[in-house]
Amino acid sequence: MIKSNPNEPTFLFDDLPLHWQMTRCEKYAFASLVEIAHPDVAIEIGTYKGGSLQIISKNSKKVYSIDTEVNCRENLSEHFDNVEFLTGDSKQLLPALLKRISNENESLGFILIDGDHSTEGVRSDINGVLQYKPVRPLYIVFHDSFHPPCREGILAADWQLCPYVHFVEVDFVPGVYHYEAFDTAPPRSMFAGLSVALMLPEKRNHELIIYQSQKGLFDTVLPHSIHSLPRKSFLSRFLNWSRIRR
Ligand SMILES: C[S@@+](CC[C@H](N)C(=O)[O-])C[C@H]1O[C@@H](n2cnc3c(N)ncnc32)[C@H](O)[C@@H]1O
Repeated sequence: MIKSNPNEPTFLFDDLPLHWQMTRCEKYAFASLVEIAHPDVAIEIGTYKGGSLQIISKNSKKVYSIDTEVNCRENLSEHFDNVEFLTGDSKQLLPALLKRISNENESLGFILIDGDHSTEGVRSDINGVLQYKPVRPLYIVFHDSFHPPCREGILAADWQLCPYVHFVEVDFVPGVYHYEAFDTAPPRSMFAGLSVALMLPEKRNHELIIYQSQKGLFDTVLPHSIHSLPRKSFLSRFLNWSRIRR
């Protein structure tokens, strides 16, 4: 039995049947953010089993949901009548989609980035979005900011080069440490965490700070996780110490 389930119990989401890969506290924050954004048009990168799409679809007129897996469309089309499923790599699909949205004068108000979790994948998805000129407040949410490669990608993105970015908080909702294996996460792994950025149609006239309010938590947990280099065992450290003393 898993003793540290960060997702349950929960009481607001009984009407959402599809598996959703976010923690309980992220689900509440995410639902609230999508409701605040109240977008005409939204984009999701990382459809998976449709979990987060349930909330995005409910609160948007139209959604584009991107995933590399072709069976996302096959399995989920019947659940959503306002979603266009796009199959392929977001690195290729996102720039064309953003151009299409601009050309068709659609009002993009929300993006979830939750696809390729490699450093380069996350960085590329964010930099793709930063090429877009918003026509209304655009809320961007990224999942798994506590997962070290994702965090590195978020921090490496070209935030400062985009004049329409007004706010970035990497630790809007802090992530979790999976002491035991959980869902697709291995033991001692760091996952979850929601980052939020806000783009506005007007250019910013203030310094852009990339907030990391829980950097201390991240730095403290990292050495105890599978993401850090193997730590020397107590025995090898003791043998090393006694060799030096001799
Ligand atoms: C963590 S899951 C998404 C979870 C979902 N958003 C939720 O909250 O339940 C990540 C998904 O991204 C997809 N993916 C991975 N790399 C991708 C890429 N380069 N472009 C598009 N989708 C990708 C995977 O196939 C997988 O379905």
